[in-house]
Amino acid sequence: MNTHQTVLTLPTDVAGVRIGFIGAGRLGQALAWSLAHTGLKVVAVSSMLEEHARALAAPIAACVCMSPQAVVDACDLVFVTTPDSVIGATCDSLTWHSGQAVVHCSGVTDVGVLTHALTQGASIGGFHPMQTFGDPHAAAQSLPGCTITVEAGQAELMQLLLALVERLHCVPNRLPAGMRGRYHAAAGYTSQFINALFDQAVRLWQTWGATEEEALRALLPLAHGTLSAIQTAGVACGMPGPVSRGDLSSIDKHLSAITPMGPEMLDFYRTLCSVTVPLARQAGGIDEVQAQKFIDLLKA
Ligand SMILES: NC(=O)c1ccc[n+]([C@@H]2O[C@H](COP(=O)([O-])OP(=O)(O)OC[C@H]3O[C@@H](n4cnc5c(N)ncnc54)[C@H](OP(=O)(O)O)[C@@H]3O)[C@@H](O)[C@H]2O)c1
Repeated sequence: MNTHQTVLTLPTDVAGVRIGFIGAGRLGQALAWSLAHTGLKVVAVSSMLEEHARALAAPIAACVCMSPQAVVDACDLVFVTTPDSVIGATCDSLTWHSGQAVVHCSGVTDVGVLTHALTQGASIGGFHPMQTFGDPHAAAQSLPGCTITVEAGQAELMQLLLALVERLHCVPNRLPAGMRGRYHAAAGYTSQFINALFDQAVRLWQTWGATEEEALRALLPLAHGTLSAIQTAGVACGMPGPVSRGDLSSIDKHLSAITPMGPEMLDFYRTLCSVTVPLARQAGGIDEVQAQKFIDLLKA
């Protein structure tokens, strides 16, 4: 019987919380370093390869490499920063107790994957930074200002996670339970789908012999300009391009030019262009009659 279960609670002072990591990969390293940099106590780490755990621990004074169970035993708050596919199994293989919390950093994985710890008295939650973590040093630099999505079933854990977000100079986003699939899909539109859009554009450039490098040199400033316009004017009013100006003939020329590239590329262009029509309407750049002409042209 666990005699701690009814008496222990999470520490209320964030500065006193002992933090541990299981999984010393890209996100684990960047997050551990960032938390430690704010003066928080990152005291324990475990990973599959000890050299990776050591790499996480090296820049943090008093952070010790140990087994996953020792991390759990030594910490008030444990981040399971393994790949999504093994978060549940990792949690299930360990013994938890009340007065501590375990969170994962996956965007799409339900917090319920940590239920084993909850049944043993621990609090469970999610802490998902909306940022891409490649090189951990660069990722740690890019963390301030990002949104971190927090989810917790228990109020005191929510308070703790919000305090961490504040320490990291990030922006908190509370996610209701059950929304992770939709939330993560939304993030994909402004993450990997940008790569998909660039792929289409680069393929067009390559048809006249330009390299990807040349194409990107031209396209990236354009993309930055669009992002700036979105930031200033919003999604609809910040949208550039022929549809926003009611320029039907340019779209006609685009369709003719893309047709030889094959039906897949043409259909994708038609789909994307169709989505811009209601945006142009919303921004007041075109009226209902013009909108219908675009729709007819794109369906033809
Ligand atoms: N990378 C991103 O851009 C990003 C962004 C947001 C959220 N996330 C989330 O962050 C989490 C970690 O992703 P990541 O990109 O950092 O993955 P990663 O670079 O592959 O790192 C995962 C780490 O987990 C360790 N590991 C694997 N199985 C383990 C086990 N059974 N026990 C202990 N450690 C284990 C690995 O150990 P070794 O290295 O020692 O072999 C590795 O260091 C995921 O939930 C992911 O969805 C990632």
